[in-house]
Amino acid sequence: MVATPRPLIAGNWKMNGLKSAGPREAKKLATRMGKVAKPQCDVLICPPATLLAPLRDALKGSRIAIGGQDCHGNASGAHTGDISAAMLKDSGCRYVIIGHSERRADHGESSQEVRVKADAAQAAGLTAIICVGETAAERKAGQTLKVVGKQLTASLAKGCTAKNTVVAYEPVWAIGTGLTPTVDDVRQVHGFIRARLRRRFRDDGAAMRLLYGGSVKGSNAEELMAVDNVNGALVGGASLTTADFWPIVATCI
Ligand code: 13P
Repeated sequence: MVATPRPLIAGNWKMNGLKSAGPREAKKLATRMGKVAKPQCDVLICPPATLLAPLRDALKGSRIAIGGQDCHGNASGAHTGDISAAMLKDSGCRYVIIGHSERRADHGESSQEVRVKADAAQAAGLTAIICVGETAAERKAGQTLKVVGKQLTASLAKGCTAKNTVVAYEPVWAIGTGLTPTVDDVRQVHGFIRARLRRRFRDDGAAMRLLYGGSVKGSNAEELMAVDNVNGALVGGASLTTADFWPIVATCI
């Protein structure tokens, strides 16, 4: 019997945050966490790369981990503007988000590229948070499970374990829109992902954390986090301030 995965509440700051306020917000969150005797979940902030070092310093000795929002598939080399997994690790990261739909859309990242990046992340000792999710048109066409299944198969590296991999289901149409799938829809997709992971990675697939992402807020977090096979959240807009993020963290604490 595999134990229920420990929840992870992850904040994806995307391209938001400056030195003037970012570290202060992170510190506020750490202070809140510090008051909890025995937290029952892990908490992570993935700031823009420019804030990794300031956040690492602000969060020193706290329970909040930091992560990157993307990495290159190679360990080093002539790739202007890119950051390797080893560099993220060197900057204090424990996690990296890979294959976010905004990267897939803005930078044309394919699932094959995502898999190479996931491999690189795992080789560097990072936990990869691999994102999958359907567009509005795909959902309307009844293709959700087919699309998610395909992304999963192609994006996950062979060496995925419960320790080095987290899967985030983020329906593209729910990101930043205030729309969320119904609880039944989330249960169906997460159940489907769990079955696929279990089939491919056995006990590791059963123990891998599955996050839901897309318009998670304090007002809907509790019901979303209570869904079977939802082991945490990947939060965008509502992770930018402690006032908005804490109520989400608190549902799992
Ligand atoms: P929102 O929470 O702003 O919808 O963003 C979700 C997301 O994309 C997290 O990676």
